[in-house]
Amino acid sequence: MSSIDYAEKIPNNVNLQNDRTLQRALEHWQPHFLQWWREMGPSDFEAADVYLRTAISVDAQGWAHYGTLKMPDYRWGIFLADAVSERKIGFGDQMGQPVWQQVPGEYRSTLRRLIVTQGDTEPASVEQQRMLGHSCPSLYDLRNLFQINVEEGRHLWAMVYLLHAYFGRDGREEAEELLARHSGDANKPRILTTFNEPMTDWLSLFCFTYFTDRDGKYQLKSFAESAFDPLSRTCRFMLTEEAHHMFVGETGISRVVKRTLDVMRELGTDDPVRIRAEGAIDLPTIQRYLNYWCSSSLDLFGSEISSNSAANFASGMKGRPDEPTYQDHVLRDAAMTIETPQGAETVPMLNALNEVMRESYLKDCEIGVKRWNRMIERAGQALRLSLPSSRFRRQIGPWAGQPVDTHGKLIAREEYERRLEDWIPTERDRAFVHLLMQRVIEPGRMAAWIAPPERGINNLSVDYQYVHLQ
Ligand SMILES: [Fe+2]
Ligand SMILES: [Fe+2]
Repeated sequence: MSSIDYAEKIPNNVNLQNDRTLQRALEHWQPHFLQWWREMGPSDFEAADVYLRTAISVDAQGWAHYGTLKMPDYRWGIFLADAVSERKIGFGDQMGQPVWQQVPGEYRSTLRRLIVTQGDTEPASVEQQRMLGHSCPSLYDLRNLFQINVEEGRHLWAMVYLLHAYFGRDGREEAEELLARHSGDANKPRILTTFNEPMTDWLSLFCFTYFTDRDGKYQLKSFAESAFDPLSRTCRFMLTEEAHHMFVGETGISRVVKRTLDVMRELGTDDPVRIRAEGAIDLPTIQRYLNYWCSSSLDLFGSEISSNSAANFASGMKGRPDEPTYQDHVLRDAAMTIETPQGAETVPMLNALNEVMRESYLKDCEIGVKRWNRMIERAGQALRLSLPSSRFRRQIGPWAGQPVDTHGKLIAREEYERRLEDWIPTERDRAFVHLLMQRVIEPGRMAAWIAPPERGINNLSVDYQYVHLQ
C-alpha cells in the first residue's frame, strides 16, 4: 500500500499536514462522518468483508487500488486532480484571466451554495440505497452497490474539504448540515427532490445510477470548467470514480433486458403476464421505470430559462460540460429558442444554459438505450425502449405540472391522469418488482430476473466471492 498519506488520519494529496487549522477542523468532522455512516450507510453490513477499490492517489496506478476490507475501515480521503500550470478561465466575462485559487468575495455565497447543493446529493444517495443490500441479486451486485456507496461518501469528503478550506466558519457549519439533512426526512430533507425519492428495489437502483449519477457526471463536468481552481480539480478527480456508477446502471439495465429476452425466447411470447410468471421483468415495465427516473433526473438541471445559470456562467463559476468543444465561450450575443406551453420564446443563450446542459445530457442517455434496443432487435422482438420527452412529468420550469405525454405533446388533463399508469410504474408494477427482490448470496449465482455480467471486477471471475458476509 502507498505510504504517501496513509499514515495520516485523513489520506490526502493536498498537504493537509502543512495546514494545522484545516487538519484539526477536518479531524473534528471525521467522527461525525463515521457516525453518520454507521447510522445512515448500508444497513447491517458493517462487519462484511468487501472487495473494494480505494483511491490512494490520483495517478493511473493509485486511483484504483483493490483490496478486501470492511466498509467502516474504508480510507475516505481528499484527492484533487493535478494542477494545470498557468490555467486560465475558459469562458464567461473574465475569460483568459488567471483562475482563482481563493474565492472572490462577490461570488462567495453563490459558490458555497453550488458546492453545498452538489455535496448534499452524495450522502443523500447513500441514504436512499441503505436497505438494498438485503435484497441483492448477487454478490457481484452487492459489491458494486457498496463500491458506489463508499465513493459517494468520498465525494462528500471532497465537497466538505472545499467548504472547510475556503469558506471559513460558514463552510464548517454547512459541513455539519450535510450530515444533518436526510433523504426523505419530513423535517430536514435533502435539497433536491430526486434525492428524497425512496429506493427499495434494484431496478430503481440501476435506473438511478444510469440517469441520476449521469446528472452528477454533467454537474461535475460543468464544475470541472470552473474558474475556482480547487473546485475544478476536485471535480475532475471525482469524474474518474463516477464512471463506475454509470457503468453499474448501464450494465445493470442491460442484464435485466437480456434476461427478459431469454425468457421471451424460451416461452415464445411477449405476454407480460407469462414473462412475470417466470420471474422476469417484462419490457413495458422496464420502460415505465426508465420514464420515471429519467423525468425525475431531468428536473435536476433546473429551469429552461434561468438567470442563475446566466450569472454562474458569466462570472466563471460554472461552465458548460466540455466547454472547450464550443466555439463561443462568452455568449453575450447568442440566443436560443425555447419551447414553452405558451409558445416559442427566444431568450439570451446565457439564460438557456440549463437547457443546453439538459440536451447534451439526454444525448448521453441515448447511448445506452440504443444498445438495449440492438439487443431487443437481435432477439427478434418488435418493442423498442425510448427516453421520455424532456417536457414529460416535469416539476421545474415552464413545463412543470403540464399534462404532457411521453412524446412531449400537450394533452387534456383528464387523459393525462388516465394514461399516467401506462407511462410510470403503477403500484402493481412496484409490488411485482418488490416480490422479485430476494437476496442471492451464493458466489456466481444470479437472481432469476437478471442475467450474469459479462465479466467480473478487476479481472476476477464472476463467481469470485466479492463479499464475505459475517
Ligand atoms: Fe458522487
Ligand atoms: Fe455517483
